[in-house]
Amino acid sequence: MNIVVGVTGGIAAYKTVHLVRLLIKAGHEVTVIPTENALRFVGAPTWESISRNTVTTSVHDDVAKVRHVAIGQAAELVIVAPATANTIAKITAGLADDLLGTTLLATTAPVAIAPAMHTEMWRHPATQANIQTLRERGVSVFGPDEGELTGGDSGPGRMLEPEEIVDAALALLDPQDLVGMRVAVSAGGTREPIDPVRFLGNRSSGRQGVALAAEAAARGAEVDLVAANIADDVLAEARHPRIRVRGVGTAAQLGEAMTDAAASADVVIMAAAVADYRPAAPSDQKLTKEAGLLDRIDLVENADIVAGLAASRPQSQTIVAFAAETLSDSEERRERARRKRERKGVDLLAVNLADAEHGFEKAENAIEIIGEGGSVVGMADGSKRHVARALWDAVQKTRR
Ligand code: CTP
Repeated sequence: MNIVVGVTGGIAAYKTVHLVRLLIKAGHEVTVIPTENALRFVGAPTWESISRNTVTTSVHDDVAKVRHVAIGQAAELVIVAPATANTIAKITAGLADDLLGTTLLATTAPVAIAPAMHTEMWRHPATQANIQTLRERGVSVFGPDEGELTGGDSGPGRMLEPEEIVDAALALLDPQDLVGMRVAVSAGGTREPIDPVRFLGNRSSGRQGVALAAEAAARGAEVDLVAANIADDVLAEARHPRIRVRGVGTAAQLGEAMTDAAASADVVIMAAAVADYRPAAPSDQKLTKEAGLLDRIDLVENADIVAGLAASRPQSQTIVAFAAETLSDSEERRERARRKRERKGVDLLAVNLADAEHGFEKAENAIEIIGEGGSVVGMADGSKRHVARALWDAVQKTRR
C-alpha cells in the first residue's frame, strides 16, 4: 500500500522513525514528508534511508512531477505523527505553504493524526476546537496518551507508541464485510497424553489460526477461537473485544468446544493440527523404561472433527479445513487436496506448504485454496495475516 507519513516538529519525531520501519517491514511503500521544523529533530538522510524514498519538505522541489499534488493523489493512507498544535491548526485552516500541507489538501485517502504536545497546549480551546473540526471532517485522531512529557511534566500529550498508531491506522482500511457474522476458528496443536509428563503432539504454533481470528474480528465478525496449546505471546495477537478464546488440550476437548461453537456459526475454520491418534490407555503414573513400559504405546484413532461438523452442519454454514502438505510437486499436491476436500465434505480446503520457509513455527505461510469441483479459488504467500486476509476473501466469495 502507498502510505504517506507526515512528520512535524516535535521531539516525538524520533519515535516516528520506528513507525516508518514498521510500515516498511509490513511491505508498504512509504513516502515521508517532514516539515522544516521536523528536520531540526530528525534529518532528511534518516528518513530517506529508512523509507528508501527521497524526502523533501518544499513544494518547489521536483516541480516537473507536480509532487505537491501527486503524492497526495497517490496516497492510500496518510498518517501525521507527531502532529504538533501548530500543524493541527494549519491542517484545520487548510494552509498549503509546504509539501505536507498541499499533500493533505490533495488527498482523498483516510487521514490519521497522532497529536503530541504539552498538556496545556492540548487542552487549549483553540487546539480542542481544531481537533473537533478535524474529527467532523473524518480525520482519525489517535491519542494523545497520558504520561511523562519533555521537561518533566506529565499529563495528556504524549504521542501513542508507533505500534499502536500503525495498528489503528491500518485498521481504517479494513473492509467491514463480516459484520453480523459469527465464526468459529480452531488453532494450535492438540496434545494427547501418554502419561503425566509426556504427550503426542505436533509443531503447530497456532499463529495461522490466531491470524484468521484477528482478521475476522477486524472485519467485524464475532469470533469463537478454540485454542489448543498456544503460547501466550502468540495468543496476545487475538486480543480483541469481539474474540472469545476457549483453551483446550486434547483432540477430544477441541472436538467438544468446536461442536459447541459451530452450532451458531456462519463459518467454521479448522486451522488446528489435530492428532489423528491418541494413546489408548494414558497412564496416570509416569511410565518408566526400567519397567519396559515405553517400548510400545498402543494408539486408537481420534474422530475426524471437521468431517463430523461438515456431516451435521446447519444450512448455509461454510466450512474450511486445512491440510499441511510436504509434497513439492504442485499437481500431485492439488490432486491429494481435491480428494481430501471431498473426503471431509468441506467447502474449502486451504493447503499449506510445510517446507523450510513456510508453515509450522514460521512467520510466513503459503497456501492454495481448493474449492468447488477441486478448482483453485485463491492463493497467498506472505505473512500469516496476509494469508488470513486471502482466506477470508475466498470464504466471502463462496458465500455469495
Ligand atoms: N482434522 C480434524 N480432526 C482430526 C484430524 C484432522 O478435524 N482428527 C482437520 C484438521 O483440523 C484440518 C484437516 O482436518 O483442518 C486436515 O487434516 P489432515 O491431517 O491433513 O487430514 P487427514 O484426513 O488426517 O489426512 P492425512 O492422511 O493426509 O493426514
